Amino acid sequence: MSIPIKKLKCGFKMPVFGMGTWIMGGDTERDPENDGQNDIASLIAGLERGLTLIDTAEMYANGFAEKIVGQATKGRNRESLFITSKVWPTHLSYDGVLKACENSLKRLGTDYLDLYLIHKPNDEFPIEETMKALDKLSDEKVIRAIGVSNFTASRLKKAQACANHKIVLNQTHYNLSCREPETELLTYCQDNHIMLEAWRPLQKGAILDAESPLLDEMCEKYSKTRSQIALNWLISQPNVVTMSTMRSVKHIEENMGAVGWSMHADDINRLRHEFPGQIKISDVVPLS
Ligand SMILES: NC(=O)c1ccc[n+]([C@@H]2O[C@H](COP(=O)([O-])OP(=O)(O)OC[C@H]3O[C@@H](n4cnc5c(N)ncnc54)[C@H](OP(=O)(O)O)[C@@H]3O)[C@@H](O)[C@H]2O)c1
Repeated sequence: MSIPIKKLKCGFKMPVFGMGTWIMGGDTERDPENDGQNDIASLIAGLERGLTLIDTAEMYANGFAEKIVGQATKGRNRESLFITSKVWPTHLSYDGVLKACENSLKRLGTDYLDLYLIHKPNDEFPIEETMKALDKLSDEKVIRAIGVSNFTASRLKKAQACANHKIVLNQTHYNLSCREPETELLTYCQDNHIMLEAWRPLQKGAILDAESPLLDEMCEKYSKTRSQIALNWLISQPNVVTMSTMRSVKHIEENMGAVGWSMHADDINRLRHEFPGQIKISDVVPLS
């Protein structure tokens, strides 16, 4: 199955859905009990079924998640993949960004990234310096696109003002429960031709257990499961893409059923207004 692509006016394009790697091989540290083999097998299962977007970060399992991605993608046609990684906030000096990127590429076993994100803002480093390093990596084609993560609209605007290359994407916590981007960021991204990539789209599975007759009504109406509705609610919105962590073939195949169709605008809005237990600010990483 081929995953539909979303495109920006500037020409940047990416799959609407893919695989995350948070918790693969550990959390912020590597889990010594986890040799990564199950995680590699899950990523390969996704790749074999047509998922090409993989999201990782230098911080995940302290670099081990990137090695897992490197193993899973080894020997594949690099151009068929869309690999994102992220630089951690303590590495946002000019030299820090260049070094972090070099290390990520080594662990991933690739010579470029499709997308490189600032994982979270950090005011200890002038944003001008960070963007200068990202511009250099773009000029040298080491990264094909620049993005940010967990940035408010005003911070995104400020970062863009000191960069030559366009910031094409902001990755933020967004799902049926967590609505922080709806205050301002989502409209800002849509108006300014920027992609909003929703992390934690299933609220780590909590959405699947929510007490919501409306969600059940949507499952019935579209003949889809709860996770398919929750993911489709995101990607049916302009400029929104997403990725989920999936460590079983069952979850991969189920979630792939979220793409290739669209909920009606009325249903998107009903879920927007009526889904229960909404939180206005991320309970994990608020925009800053
Ligand atoms: N930029 C940031 O600050 C940031 C923060 C958090 C996450 N992220 C990125 O976003 C990705 C996704 O976020 P996330 O992993 O936190 O949240 P998520 O995708 O909402 O939740 C993942 C969890 O849901 C389970 N799951 C997936 N599909 C399911 C299904 N169909 N039925 C039942 N359970 C299902 C998974 O179980 P199994 O693993 O057992 O399959 C996993 O435990 C991460 O991997 C990471 O790449 C970025």
